[in-house]
Amino acid sequence: MSSDSTHQSPKPRVAVVFGGRSSEHTISVLTAGAVLRAIDRERYDVLPIGITTDGRWALTADDPERMAITGRELPTVAGIAEPGGGSVLLPVDPAAREVVLAEPGSVPKDLGDVDVVFPVLHGPYGEDGTLQGMLELSGVPYVGAGVLASAVGMDKEYMKRIFHSFGLPVGPYTVIRPREWDTDPAAARKKIVDFAGDHGWPVFVKPARAGSSMGITKVDDLAGLDDAIAEARAHDPKIIVESLLRGREIECGVLEFEDGPRASVPAEIPPVSDHDFYDFEAKYLDSAEGIVPAPLTPEQTDRVRELAVLAYEAVSCEGLVRADFFLTEDGEFVINEINTLPGFTPISMYPRMWQASGVDYPELIDRLIQAALRRSTGLR
Ligand SMILES: Nc1ncnc2c1ncn2[C@@H]1O[C@H](COP(=O)(O)OP(=O)(O)O)[C@@H](O)[C@H]1O
Ligand SMILES: [Mg+2]
Repeated sequence: MSSDSTHQSPKPRVAVVFGGRSSEHTISVLTAGAVLRAIDRERYDVLPIGITTDGRWALTADDPERMAITGRELPTVAGIAEPGGGSVLLPVDPAAREVVLAEPGSVPKDLGDVDVVFPVLHGPYGEDGTLQGMLELSGVPYVGAGVLASAVGMDKEYMKRIFHSFGLPVGPYTVIRPREWDTDPAAARKKIVDFAGDHGWPVFVKPARAGSSMGITKVDDLAGLDDAIAEARAHDPKIIVESLLRGREIECGVLEFEDGPRASVPAEIPPVSDHDFYDFEAKYLDSAEGIVPAPLTPEQTDRVRELAVLAYEAVSCEGLVRADFFLTEDGEFVINEINTLPGFTPISMYPRMWQASGVDYPELIDRLIQAALRRSTGLR
């Protein structure tokens, strides 16, 4: 299959943008493969655009088979970019919808108009509002959260502050800003030790803006703290320290319908035996088995669905969000985080929760694209 280069069709043309500069590059390629496989080709034309790990926008093969795991080998954009190089450029002129392929020394090649962008990107430079800002400048509608919701959804500090102000229960935490650590690491270390004194060890040390459990360490005592801080800071100079929340991990999906957001049936992520917590390997390579629907009482189910929609509204999300909670031993839901572009392969929790709620994967993709097409860019 190859994309129309002289695009005349009346079908909306969807640019699926994937890969990217974040550490979740390969997960994004896997997800894009699944989206390309499932998107309704009768309804939409598709233009796959991969972003390489160094940030080049490349035209890629429209070939989902090459965007899958082979053995334990993960796919990359570099592996499927069309030969010849060149960069795909979106117009910054909101009056233009056409995308071009620019190659050094040659006239830019017209790749046709794009009606909507589906950013299948996780983490920084994709899920964090930066790409969304660029798409706002271009005037091209896009799937999912806007600039603010994306940026907040990527920042575990501001996320918690907003949730708290909307009455969503959050766990105890403290933040070490880049300057605090750079100017006085001893004081920053003491701040964490005091926090642990108040709330108990172990603590979770996390990069404030990352994902897929990258850079997160559960720290049992002072001895492990400096290594954990270094590990978190390798992903983000701002770190967040949280106390351990004991309880069950419950997730819930929110999806935008014509009449507003609705919550899916919730799911439970059981503790993973070989892993200390639900980490990157557990999530993606060993495909941790989430239980859908979560075995909860009807009251608990109603409560978590209500909180998930509240989290979506609190941050002004659009399209979709996955809200992740702990159900603590005293029966309270505490929100851990939201993901504005949650894991989105067909075996990921978000699509599975919607599958169990009567929305299959192709319909999910269709609903997200339709929600984006109903919106325009700019203030809304
Ligand atoms: N405060 C906490 N208490 C207990 N477990 C936690 C806590 N924070 C994180 N975890 C565990 O680590 C996993 C990843 O943390 P999370 O904050 O969701 O980061 P990410 O954005 O990388 O998904 C969670 O799914 C959970 O299993
Ligand atoms: Mg998480």
